[in-house]
Amino acid sequence: MGFLQQLSTLLFLSTMAFCMGNDDDPSFKLNDDVLGLIVFKSGIKDPSSYLDSWNEDDSSPCSWRFVQCNPSNGRVSEISLAGLGLSGKIGKGLQKLQYLKVLSLSHNDFNGSIDELGSIFTSLQSLNLSHNGFSGKIPNFFVMGSMKSLDLSGNLLTGPIPVGFFQTCSSLESLSLADNSLQGPLPTTLSRCSNLNNLNLSKNQFSGTVEYLGSMNKLQTLDLSYNSFSGTIPEKAMAAIDDLKELHLQVNHFTGPIPDSITSLKNSISSIDLSNNMFTGDFPQWIGTLSNLEHLDFSTNSLTGNLPPSMGNLKALKLLKLSNNKVEGNIPPSLASCSQLSAIDLRDNDFNGSIPSGLFQLQSLQDLDISRNSLQGNINVGMGAFAKIKYLNLSWNNLRSRIPPEIGLFQNLTVLDLRNNGLLGDIPGDLCEAGNLGVLQLDGNSLTGPIPDEIGNCSSLYLLSLSHNNISGSIPKSMSKLRMLKILKLEYNELSGEIPHELGFLGNLLAVNVSYNRLTGRLPAGGIFPSLGQSSLKGNLGLCSPLLNGPCKMNTPKPLFLDPDLYNNQMGDHRRRNDSSSTTRFDHHMFFSVSAIIAISAAVLIVSGVIIISLLNVSARRRQAMVEAALESMCSSSTRSGSLPTGKLILFDPKLSPVGVDNPEVFLEKESEIGEGVFGSVYKVSLGAQGRIVAFKKLVTSKIIEYPDDFDREVRVLSKARHPNLIALEGYYWTPHCQLLVTEYAPNGNLQTRLHERLSSTPALSWSERFKIILGTAKGLAHLHHSFRPPIIHYNMKPSNILLDEKSNPKISDFGLARLLTKLEKHVINNRFQSALGYVAPELACQSLRVNEKCDIYGFGVLILELVTGRRPVEYGEDNVVILSDHVRISLEQGNVLDCVDRSMADYPEDEVLPVLKLALVCTSQIPSSRPSMTEVVQILQVIKTPIPHQMEIF
Ligand SMILES: *[C@@H]1O[C@H](CO)[C@@H](O)[C@H](O)[C@H]1NC(C)=O
Ligand SMILES: *[C@@H]1O[C@H](CO)[C@@H](O)[C@H](O)[C@H]1NC(C)=O
Ligand SMILES: *[C@@H]1O[C@H](CO)[C@@H](O)[C@H](O)[C@H]1NC(C)=O
Ligand SMILES: *[C@@H]1O[C@H](CO)[C@@H](O)[C@H](O)[C@H]1NC(C)=O
Repeated sequence: MGFLQQLSTLLFLSTMAFCMGNDDDPSFKLNDDVLGLIVFKSGIKDPSSYLDSWNEDDSSPCSWRFVQCNPSNGRVSEISLAGLGLSGKIGKGLQKLQYLKVLSLSHNDFNGSIDELGSIFTSLQSLNLSHNGFSGKIPNFFVMGSMKSLDLSGNLLTGPIPVGFFQTCSSLESLSLADNSLQGPLPTTLSRCSNLNNLNLSKNQFSGTVEYLGSMNKLQTLDLSYNSFSGTIPEKAMAAIDDLKELHLQVNHFTGPIPDSITSLKNSISSIDLSNNMFTGDFPQWIGTLSNLEHLDFSTNSLTGNLPPSMGNLKALKLLKLSNNKVEGNIPPSLASCSQLSAIDLRDNDFNGSIPSGLFQLQSLQDLDISRNSLQGNINVGMGAFAKIKYLNLSWNNLRSRIPPEIGLFQNLTVLDLRNNGLLGDIPGDLCEAGNLGVLQLDGNSLTGPIPDEIGNCSSLYLLSLSHNNISGSIPKSMSKLRMLKILKLEYNELSGEIPHELGFLGNLLAVNVSYNRLTGRLPAGGIFPSLGQSSLKGNLGLCSPLLNGPCKMNTPKPLFLDPDLYNNQMGDHRRRNDSSSTTRFDHHMFFSVSAIIAISAAVLIVSGVIIISLLNVSARRRQAMVEAALESMCSSSTRSGSLPTGKLILFDPKLSPVGVDNPEVFLEKESEIGEGVFGSVYKVSLGAQGRIVAFKKLVTSKIIEYPDDFDREVRVLSKARHPNLIALEGYYWTPHCQLLVTEYAPNGNLQTRLHERLSSTPALSWSERFKIILGTAKGLAHLHHSFRPPIIHYNMKPSNILLDEKSNPKISDFGLARLLTKLEKHVINNRFQSALGYVAPELACQSLRVNEKCDIYGFGVLILELVTGRRPVEYGEDNVVILSDHVRISLEQGNVLDCVDRSMADYPEDEVLPVLKLALVCTSQIPSSRPSMTEVVQILQVIKTPIPHQMEIF
């Protein structure tokens, strides 16, 4: 191929030269197409040999596969190579195809620059390069010309759009630049594209305002989502675009009210997504006029006001999402006449009043989330309710009600979340009649009575959480039938007796918490039970486990598990209590008749062939429930009080939605715990579709920062610190008792391990690696100190905070904790940080001086000393203590400083090691003002590494 390629290139160049001035000779033009395509083919990889028919001996390419010619001139007009698994650079060959109008290379693995299309770009009518690996900028000489349709989506293009790009844009009908890394404001010449129907700029880093939108009055779909656009949506713009069908502005920084002029779209618009912006003002009262609206998403804005009764006019509405706003008042009962609704999400608003009972009758509804409002009253499910519901979340309201037993009839219900309400009475035994329930969360209510034996019928259950109730009786043995169960939370109840040993057979269990009950006896011998820690078991009457601190207290006179009769009696008790409850029996009765009716009506629905439009990804919701439960359990050991965490996982990169956690189980696996940070455990977790690994670091202590908004602001500041030598901060999880930071994950361990705890099989760090670590760390610190006002101070420089990549490039982690913890009590800081013995600058020991960046420079100096000498900053001998900096300083004065250099480092240049040691001593000066700044340190290090004929004496 290499030879052919060279040959073709030669041919190509010579033909180019030969063609000059011969444009009118038809015989050459025919060959141009063959030649151009052969040159193109020779430069790419075609693993499935799709292009075998492209033969350089042919005089015309018109019979070749994927090639079409214009019959009138016999020249190639169309090439369509979508999805053929081709790769490589496109080369300059295609520039020869002067009559080409349509080119599609989409869904291949082409890479390199798109420059190579050259001037044919301007004569093309349709170009589709979507879903490849093209990189670099859009070249300045690309001008629309006669282009009607341009699709560059799903590549790696960067930089701004050149100003001339839209210069002559009147032919353009469809443009997608989505899913690249393009940035900057759009050129205002975009307003010349007056015939544009579809504009998709989604998933880039475009910024600036959008006042020019109004001149593109033929737009039908407009997608600006996932960018950094800002400003208001001009009233004029929406009034001008009459035919708009889809408006996607989600995940930007738009502000101001939702423009009233959207009403002018009343006959066309079917989809509006304004979610994740900063829109303010009242929820639009005119919404009812948009009669074709199917998809309405205003979630995560700052909208206020009420939902108008005219919502009921939206007969086509399938999806309604308003979560995370400040909308108040009642949920209008008229909503129940939107009979197509398949998803309603009103989570986290200020709705009050009761839940309109009509909602439960919506036959298409699959997903109902009205959690985190102030809804009151009963849950009135009634007959014939919810044929298709899969996800039902009423948690965090003030519902005072029994759990309606009809819920057990919802055939496809997979997630039921009723946490934190005032639910009363027993847990109905029939909750799992339909058998699909995977997540059952009833925590934080006032439920009484026992866990029903029928819980064993919930065969699909993998998360069962009943904690913080007044549930009594013993844990039923039937729970051992829950083969899928992964998480079991029963803490803070009145459960008594022993844990049935059969639960030890539950092989999928990853987390169990039975703390604060009245349980006694020995733990099941199998499964997860023997490894349960104190936080899962404490606060019981007499649970015994080798892992529980303190002596095993058997408060009961005799251990129950030794006495089979006692065990049976207890089960007997339990059953008796169940049977004697007349209300329970009544519910059963009710239940069967309702069950029959619903079963029949469901069958009718199925027979009549109702088409189900699945807008929802329930498995994503299930995963989200798992993620939340898992995060809570990471935090569980710190929730001392009876209250539940109100957790929220925030990830700064919108492409990494929390739902994207591939495998939430990893949160809970023992191996996912990878170490100890300053304030607690560090976990390794895979996020997102590509399974990108991140670390979760626990910041548990007493209250760190009391207000989530303060915490959010501080963490966002730290997340702006992006540098190759810093571990990036990606997000956080917040509850009043526990905070987790989400950071970049470095797979190759830290400097502490590499330097002091290395296995004998691992070679010692070489001098050039050590120098690279010193210089990289210095650059990272310099970035923290000099790119932020006020500077970010690390405050805890030590080798275990320097993570290494496979090429020994250092990345500083845990920076900025001091900033994050400013509100933390002083003694906690001291107790936690003093453990980094030897790194603490002397002025901090006496706490009178303010923390500033000079403390980090001291710590950095100690780190250099440690890297050069391979010794720890403080070492205890038999009868002496060696302070490393003093030791090196004295050796230097005595002229034998090279004796301090780490002997495991075979070979090193003295003219680098010596000045580096001197730099370290200046950095560890006792007087803060004599220490250099980090930028000076970086400069000095770079001078040390620069080969100078006669090494200058720099100290
Ligand atoms: C293009 O992809 C090939 C593998 O197909 C790779 O070897 C090459 O480095 C890539 N070039 C660029 C510029 O990404
Ligand atoms: C580009 O090609 C892909 C796949 O071949 C197709 O899905 C997409 O709609 C095309 N883009 C345009 C604008 O036609
Ligand atoms: C815009 O492009 C993105 C990425 O290709 C795609 O996911 C989205 O559906 C497109 N928007 C519209 C309205 O088609
Ligand atoms: C439940 O879900 C299954 C599979 O998605 C579907 O075939 C069935 O029709 C659903 N049942 C109802 C009552 O919607």
